[in-house]
Amino acid sequence: MNDATLTVEVVRRWDEAHGICGFELRRPDRAPLPRFDAGAHIDAYLPGGLVRQYSLCGNPARNDCYEIAVLRDPNGRGGSMAMHDQVHQGDLIRIGAPRNHFPVDAQAAHHLLLAGGIGVTPILAMAEHLAAQDTPFDMHYCTRSRERAAFVDRLAASAFHQHVQIHFDDAAAHQAFDMAAAIAAASAHTHLYVCGPRGFMEAVLAEARAQGWAGHRLHHEFFSGAVANADAREETGFVVRIASSGVSVDVPPGCTVVESLAQHGVDVLTSCGQGVCGTCMTRVLEGQPEHRDSYLTDEEKVAGEYFLPCCSRSRSPVLVLDL
Ligand code: FES
Repeated sequence: MNDATLTVEVVRRWDEAHGICGFELRRPDRAPLPRFDAGAHIDAYLPGGLVRQYSLCGNPARNDCYEIAVLRDPNGRGGSMAMHDQVHQGDLIRIGAPRNHFPVDAQAAHHLLLAGGIGVTPILAMAEHLAAQDTPFDMHYCTRSRERAAFVDRLAASAFHQHVQIHFDDAAAHQAFDMAAAIAAASAHTHLYVCGPRGFMEAVLAEARAQGWAGHRLHHEFFSGAVANADAREETGFVVRIASSGVSVDVPPGCTVVESLAQHGVDVLTSCGQGVCGTCMTRVLEGQPEHRDSYLTDEEKVAGEYFLPCCSRSRSPVLVLDL
């Protein structure tokens, strides 16, 4: 859990689109909030003890308020339902200070921003930031229908609207997103950022790789858990060794590395607990991790230098961790 929390007031809550609520958060005393960079998210501590991550979709230049938007997902793990059903205007909630695992590369000459559905939230903050910096970018926003599309009016009214194309699944074929063409049209100096449903993100990243894009030019953020859950009966136990103390800890089937370490008094900072946020990322000094997260890139997983102990396991009998 993130220790650095702030109490904020929900000063405004609004229906942004069908099934999507917007929340504007300010300090109760209206003091400035910690600044954030485009792509950052906050942890929100919700009724019922849930902690969920939401990307900040407001303008990063503003430090008087944070904005988030939440898609209600009745089949989710309960966070979006709690936000929709139990968090009201005027309520006080606790949040973590902004953290950014999805930053804009300040060195890149051009940026291609690709959003699918509610994945538009961090992409929107990126567009605001790049426009303010006068850095060239193109944004494509793919969404099921006009009524389910968040921030359409805000995008239309923005100073950068000419760089934004919105594609509706239920509209005419000529406006459909041509992923291959959009990626092919980008220059060799372009960096690509994608956030959205898993299938959308995987398709974008696969297409970019097929077109020869190097991994350092591809940036992505999953916004909901997609941990590769294996049946505990198929899991094997292994040992993690703590490099600083030499202590070895058994990790049995059905128990995570984080849980096993906690039982031996070793606490690893966690947040999402499902391999999405990167909070628990730990360096691996020896051994071969079995990655089950959606945070690390394919290249990082192959390198095996880091792993996410809230969900990932080990292929080798022993994993030595830099703890
Ligand atoms: Fe979020 Fe491990 S706690 S990735």
